[in-house]
Amino acid sequence: MKRFNSGVIHFVVFISVLLFLGPGLSMHPFSYDHSLKSECLMELPQTINTGEGFQELKIKENGENGKVVERVNLQKGGIYSISAWVKLRNEKGRAVRITLRGKNVRYVDGGQIIAKKGCWSLLKGGFIVNVSAPVDIFFKSDGSAAADINVQNVRLQRFNKTQWRLQQDRVIEKIRKSKVRFQVSFQNKSTVEGSLISIKQIRPSFLLGCAMNYRILESDSCREWFVSRFRLTSFTNEMKWYTTEEVRGQENYTLADAMMQLAEESKVLVKGHTVLSDDKEWQPIWVQSITDPEDLRNATLNRMNSVMKRYKGRLIGWDVMNENLHYSYYEDMLGKNASAMIYSLASKIDPDIPLFINEYNTVEYAKGGVGSPINVKNKMEEIVSYPGNMNIKGGIGAQAHFVPAQPNLPYMRSALDTLGSLGFPVWLTEVDMPKCPDQVKYMEEVLREAYSHPAVQGIILYAGPEMSGFNKLTLADNDFNNTEAGDLIDKLLQEWQQEPAEIPVEYHEHNDEEESRIIGFSPEVSLLHGHYTVTVTNPSMKNFSTTFSLEVTTETGQLQVVQLELDV
Ligand SMILES: *[C@@H]1O[C@H](CO)[C@@H](O)[C@H](O)[C@H]1NC(C)=O
Ligand SMILES: *[C@@H]1O[C@H](CO)[C@@H](O)[C@H](O)[C@H]1NC(C)=O
Ligand SMILES: *[C@@H]1O[C@H](CO)[C@@H](O)[C@H](O)[C@H]1NC(C)=O
Ligand SMILES: *[C@@H]1O[C@H](CO)[C@@H](O)[C@H](O)[C@H]1NC(C)=O
Ligand SMILES: *[C@@H]1O[C@H](CO)[C@@H](O)[C@H](O)[C@H]1NC(C)=O
Ligand SMILES: *[C@@H]1O[C@H](CO)[C@@H](O)[C@H](O)[C@H]1NC(C)=O
Ligand SMILES: *[C@@H]1O[C@H](CO)[C@@H](O)[C@H](O)[C@H]1NC(C)=O
Ligand SMILES: *[C@@H]1O[C@H](CO)[C@@H](O)[C@H](O)[C@H]1NC(C)=O
Repeated sequence: MKRFNSGVIHFVVFISVLLFLGPGLSMHPFSYDHSLKSECLMELPQTINTGEGFQELKIKENGENGKVVERVNLQKGGIYSISAWVKLRNEKGRAVRITLRGKNVRYVDGGQIIAKKGCWSLLKGGFIVNVSAPVDIFFKSDGSAAADINVQNVRLQRFNKTQWRLQQDRVIEKIRKSKVRFQVSFQNKSTVEGSLISIKQIRPSFLLGCAMNYRILESDSCREWFVSRFRLTSFTNEMKWYTTEEVRGQENYTLADAMMQLAEESKVLVKGHTVLSDDKEWQPIWVQSITDPEDLRNATLNRMNSVMKRYKGRLIGWDVMNENLHYSYYEDMLGKNASAMIYSLASKIDPDIPLFINEYNTVEYAKGGVGSPINVKNKMEEIVSYPGNMNIKGGIGAQAHFVPAQPNLPYMRSALDTLGSLGFPVWLTEVDMPKCPDQVKYMEEVLREAYSHPAVQGIILYAGPEMSGFNKLTLADNDFNNTEAGDLIDKLLQEWQQEPAEIPVEYHEHNDEEESRIIGFSPEVSLLHGHYTVTVTNPSMKNFSTTFSLEVTTETGQLQVVQLELDV
């Protein structure tokens, strides 16, 4: 409850929340069911048939190198979600992949899972095809024979682009918005009539941010371009060790400090990138030549203390050990548990912010491999299960450097499901795609897919104006005029932020027996999560105006009732 006392207006706000558990996100495999843990089940769950475009596929045969289901006719432009339960007969654990092959479609990958012996794992993924053709769908495992894989309940569902988008919009309504209703109690009927509630969003909860490099320090236009759009950033190289300590013992934070100050002055949030990197090539030259593990341990401790304490309290997260699935410099030098130990130390230096893993080829690459979602999840679990790390705040960063081709959206969704299953925030941290004829369209698809996934809490583009050297995803030319990609980003920034609105208070006669006050109600409005300022005015009463702040979040449930008591 907040009390305001602004001169003649006595003003009290109560905020009550009506929580009701509506029909949650449904549980079938094509849904956004991020709560579905990727655990292995002893019994196959019940199948649920879902409407239009749904097909249950029969297992046809064992091919030479995989299990094949009956042939399906795919339609050009269709978005196909696929799910199946898989189990191994002999081996303990092995990756099983979905692959598609047809006349003009050669070996397109659709997703993968680590299948186990003795229990069923849910494999989800899908395809987007650009030809209409009959195709074969295989379930393959590198190494084990087709007969060793047991596949059940293969289910395919076709969506067109409109249906896919509709489904996203439905989820956005649930996960990014809440309903709010204002209830205003007045002493006097004539005060109610014509009263208006004006709402203005100060900051949306979900932020679409953009990378920043040192070039921003050189140009006021560049700075203006950035801060007029973005509220979230991460520096490309300026916080990295090779930048801040090029020569051992001579730390130089000039660039990072200046960019940090710029961000703070402009109320731009910063995610730290990166305390360390597991790739030998990205160490300062002098580190690369260290041979004594104890010497490296000392240098590493010094680095962590230096950079993390310097920016403590000023960042919203840290990438701790960049790319520690693709590389293993610290593991090779300091032992198998090096990353886990380093996250442990990092959480002691700065326990308050999420400590991210940051990997590539995770959501952008359906073939699996080193950076696959399941490997990222396992790595984070390994870090958290290291002694003393139980309570660290984890974070999952998927870099999302896409290739210039149609992104596989159903695969991306299943990848985000897997990454989200740990319950840590998932971010896309370096989103880009090289130039190609459909670059803008593909980028929009990727960004909308992320925004409509419940696990995703932030997006940072690896992009910028031409003068900053972002030559893959360029948002503005040398005059800071938007490119087409820039127009797209501006469009999304606007769409993902609540427009200011004026909501009328509708008069309702109400006999409040004790105080005989008059109660007015606003209609229910659906608002994007974020911070707002709310102003109550009545045009017919010149001096009647009062303002307060309001936060609309997931925690406020499905309907938040804001009660105002006004005594003029
Ligand atoms: C269709 O997609 C394949 C990749 O699956 C690509 O190689 C091919 O160029 C695409 N064709 C068209 C016409 O876009
Ligand atoms: C997509 O599917 C819906 C539902 O079947 C249909 O009404 C609509 O016309 C389709 N849109 C396109 C562009 O095919
Ligand atoms: C109600 O408010 C109006 C406008 O401020 C005022 O003229 C009128 O006297 C008030 N009536 C009562 C019963 O307080
Ligand atoms: C520190 O870095 C800044 C920016 O790169 C540079 O201008 C400056 O000369 C450096 N200072 C020292 C002492 O090397
Ligand atoms: C590492 O640091 C410790 C403590 O400061 C010191 O005693 C030790 O000699 C250092 N080791 C190396 C190889 O420099
Ligand atoms: C660290 O890794 C080794 C394997 O190299 C393992 O035997 C040991 O138990 C691990 N230590 C901890 C504390 O987890
Ligand atoms: C960029 O925009 C300015 C106006 O803001 C305009 O005068 C200029 O011609 C534009 N430049 C290009 C290359 O379009
Ligand atoms: C409104 O407030 C101002 C100063 O706060 C005062 O001078 C003025 O008389 C007020 N007007 C009315 C209509 O009450």
